Amino acid sequence: MALRNIVKFGDERLRKKCREVTAFDDKLWVLLDDMYETMQASDGVGLAAPQVGILRRVAVIDVGEGPIELINPVITSMRGKQHEIEGCLSSPNQWGYVERPAKVKVTAFNRYGKEFKVEGTELLARALCHEIDHLNGIIFTDLADEMVEPEDNKKKRKK
Ligand code: CO
Repeated sequence: MALRNIVKFGDERLRKKCREVTAFDDKLWVLLDDMYETMQASDGVGLAAPQVGILRRVAVIDVGEGPIELINPVITSMRGKQHEIEGCLSSPNQWGYVERPAKVKVTAFNRYGKEFKVEGTELLARALCHEIDHLNGIIFTDLADEMVEPEDNKKKRKK
């Protein structure tokens, strides 16, 4: 495994619609392993392939309940609303309020090409939406209705 460089806001690669994965091979597995290691090293809860410069529909998430690997993920249901502070590893010092669904259901493939479903509320729902947005060239600042100062955020995160 190896750490990959994280692409920062302003880079055109974060604005592309990523292509579906068609080969569930060892190249994909190395990408997934590297992405997870890179995310953990940066203290993140999610990372999408375009953030390491790979324009494929791949994301990893870990909100503290273990790793979730998402390949070709699709949101199949969204319910309710939540309005919380969000950030992104591609812009480590920016934070803002984003409205997201309270609950989402996603269908995706695992690294072996097997389809599975995942349901999330709270932070997981937010992470699922945020990472899938990345695969469509959308970043959270496109959606944020209010940016916050780092000090405000520090207080919020301590809750
Ligand atoms: Co992000």
